[in-house]
Amino acid sequence: MKIVATDRKGAEQVVEGRNGWSVMEILRDAGLPVAAECGGACACATCHVYVNDGWYEKLPPPSDAEVDMLDMALAVEPNSRLSCQLVCSDELDGIKVTIAPE
Ligand code: FES
Repeated sequence: MKIVATDRKGAEQVVEGRNGWSVMEILRDAGLPVAAECGGACACATCHVYVNDGWYEKLPPPSDAEVDMLDMALAVEPNSRLSCQLVCSDELDGIKVTIAPE
């Protein structure tokens, strides 16, 4: 599956995802500026992304823990998600995300 990722400068790149891995891990390994300070434990919100182009609605809803953590994030939008909580799968092939401001 592929992830279409836009960085904070507006540059778009397509990265190859791996089913079962989190979107955060894929973005970070591709060199995108995802701090992911808690390592994917849903405890830092530094993996915040915006999910674009209708993909937000296709995602499983966020857990209570993710909602709580997003409450503490900056620049939260209706399409905000924590990328460590998004799991790569064939259903998400082509998902579009933009890295949120730090
Ligand atoms: S990496 Fe910390 S909340 Fe996602």
